[in-house]
Amino acid sequence: MYKMKPEYYTGIMAIDKEHARLFELVQQAHDLLNNDILLDKSDRLTDLISELINYTRTHFSHEEEYMESIHYEQLALHAAQHRKFEESLAEFDLDSLEEDYDGQNEAIQNLLDFLVNWLINHIMKVDMLYVKQ
Ligand SMILES: [Fe+2]
Ligand SMILES: [Fe+2]
Repeated sequence: MYKMKPEYYTGIMAIDKEHARLFELVQQAHDLLNNDILLDKSDRLTDLISELINYTRTHFSHEEEYMESIHYEQLALHAAQHRKFEESLAEFDLDSLEEDYDGQNEAIQNLLDFLVNWLINHIMKVDMLYVKQ
C-alpha cells in the first residue's frame, strides 16, 4: 500500500533505494495499526520508531553527502528540514502507552500520518530540488 510511485524517483539509485526502504517502514506502521491480534503493541512500536530514527539518520547523512558533492547551494536549508524531522521523531512519547490499547493505536495513527505527510512532501518538494538543479 505504501510504496514508491513513479513520481517519487529521483533517478539517483542509492537515494531511491533508501526512499523505498523508508516507505517499507511506513508500511510497517500501517500494518501494526491494523493488527487486531496483538494486544500490546508497545514493544513493536518502540522497535519501529528506533528503526526509523536509525534509518533516517543514515539516509539523511547520505543525502547530505551527495548534496555536498554536487555543491548544492540549498544544502543548509535542506539539512535543517532533516534535523527538524529527527526532532519530531524523537518527541514521540511512548512511556505512557503500556497497557493502553486505544492510546497505542492513537499513537501509531499519529506516527503514520506524520510519516506519510512528511515523507511524500519532502521527497516531492524538497529532495527533487537537488535533482533538478
Ligand atoms: Fe531530504
Ligand atoms: Fe530523501
